[in-house]
Amino acid sequence: MQYCKRSNDIILTALGEQFKAFHQNLTEQPVASVFTGPVVAELPDVGVSFEALNTLITEQVRPNLSASNGGRYWGFVTGGANPVATYADWLVTTFNQNVSKGGDSIASDIERQTLGWLCELFALPHTFNGIFTTGATAANVLVAFTARQYAGHAQNIDITQAGMADLDVGIFSATPHASMVKSLGFAGFGQNGWQKIACNPNNESMDINALEVALAECKAASKIVIASAATVTGTDFDDIEAIATLCQKYHAWLHVDAAFGIFERLINGKDGKTRGIERADSITLDCHKWLNVPYDCGVFLTQHMDLLTQCCEVSAAYLASPENTLSYMSLGIENSRRFRAFPVWATLLAYGKQGVTDNIKANMLHARQLANWLDKSDKYELLKPCELNVVLFKPNAAVLNLTSAQCMAKLNASGQVFLTPGAWQGEPIIRAALSNWATNVDDVQRVIAALDGI
Ligand SMILES: Cc1ncc(COP(=O)(O)O)c(C=O)c1O
Repeated sequence: MQYCKRSNDIILTALGEQFKAFHQNLTEQPVASVFTGPVVAELPDVGVSFEALNTLITEQVRPNLSASNGGRYWGFVTGGANPVATYADWLVTTFNQNVSKGGDSIASDIERQTLGWLCELFALPHTFNGIFTTGATAANVLVAFTARQYAGHAQNIDITQAGMADLDVGIFSATPHASMVKSLGFAGFGQNGWQKIACNPNNESMDINALEVALAECKAASKIVIASAATVTGTDFDDIEAIATLCQKYHAWLHVDAAFGIFERLINGKDGKTRGIERADSITLDCHKWLNVPYDCGVFLTQHMDLLTQCCEVSAAYLASPENTLSYMSLGIENSRRFRAFPVWATLLAYGKQGVTDNIKANMLHARQLANWLDKSDKYELLKPCELNVVLFKPNAAVLNLTSAQCMAKLNASGQVFLTPGAWQGEPIIRAALSNWATNVDDVQRVIAALDGI
C-alpha cells in the first residue's frame, strides 16, 4: 500500500465497520481471550494492501482481544471508553496536535481549561494546576520528582541541578499503590526508600497515631507523606484531613493518590471520604479509569507549579515559541505530547457533572448488588462490605473446595467475566472492580449466574 490521501475515504468506511462489528460482538464474546502470539510471521519488504490488512485485523486480531471495553471486565480498575470520548479520541488522532510548546494551536488552552474543569468537578481550589499524563503511574512519577524538589529546597539543594547525593529525606505511607513505589525507584529514592506506617485494624488506611510517632521520631531534614484515596484492593481512604494537619506540623509534603477514589467526591461531596484532599501538595487522578475515557489519560495536580517547572523545564534554542504561558513541555515527562485532554474535555461537556456522577452511582449500585448476592450465597465469602466499586470475596472452601486462584480461573474461563486476584489481610482473594459505564443489571445477573454455576 502507498501513502496517499485518497486512502482516507476507504479508511473512514473501514473504521465505521470495525467499530460497529466490535461493539455488536462485545456482549457475546468471551470477556478474556486465551490467544497469545503474533498473528503475522514476518515484517514484509513490500507492504500488504489495506484490504489484506483489514482482513487480518477482522479475522485474527479482533477475535483475540479482551472485552475490556464491555460491561463484565472487572479486573484491575478498568474504565470503558464512553461514546463521546471515543469519538473525541478519534479526532485527537485526526488532528494530531503536539501539545508541547503552544503558540500555534488552541490545544494547550483546551488542556488548561479541562484541568480547571476537573478541579471544579472535584471541588478543588483553583490553586491546583497541573498536566495530563499517560496515566496515574506517570502522574505518580511527577509526584516523586516534585516532592523530591520540595525536599531539596528545605536543605538548600536544587535536586534537579545538583542530584540526590546529599538529600536527607523520610518518606511515609501505609498502603501505597505499586505504581507509587515504582515511581520512588525512578526518582532515586529507591523502591525500598519509604517507611511503612501501620494500618487501622482490618483496613488498609493509615493509623494516624503511628504516623505522628514516625514523623516525630524522624530525624531527616525533609519529609514526604503518601496518602491513599482509595487503596486499590480495600478501597480504603486515609484520613486526609488529619494527615494534612500532621504534614503542616512536621513540614512534610502531602501527596494523595486518588486515581479512582476522587470520584467518591461526586457522591459524598467535600465532607465525604476525601475530606481534606484540598490541603494536599499534590494529587494523582486517572481519567481512563472512572471518567471512562480511552487509555492513556491520567492527571497530576499540584499547588506548587513552580517546583514542577523546576523539575521539567526544557530550554533549547530550537524550542523557542511565542506562547506566553508556561508550556506543557516544561511541566511533564514528555516533550512531544498527545492531545489527551480532548476526550476529557468532550466528556465533561457532553455529559456534564450530572452525567459523570450518574455513572459513578450506577457502578457503585451494581457493585453493591454483587456484594449482597455473595454475602447471601453459601458458596462464597464476602470479605468486606462494599462501600465503593470493588468487591472482595473468596470461595467458601467447605462448599466449593477450591482455592481463590482456582475459582477465579474457572470463572474467567467461563468467558462471562474477567476478574483479577488480590490479597486481603494476607490471604489470596478475588477482586471484582466495576468502573465501566457500560455495566448494567443484566451484566451483574450474568456474572451471578456464572458464580452460582461453579
Ligand atoms: C490508586 C492507584 N494509583 C495508581 C494506579 C496506576 O494507574 P495507571 O495504571 O493508570 O498507571 C492505580 C491503578 O489501578 C491505582 O488504583
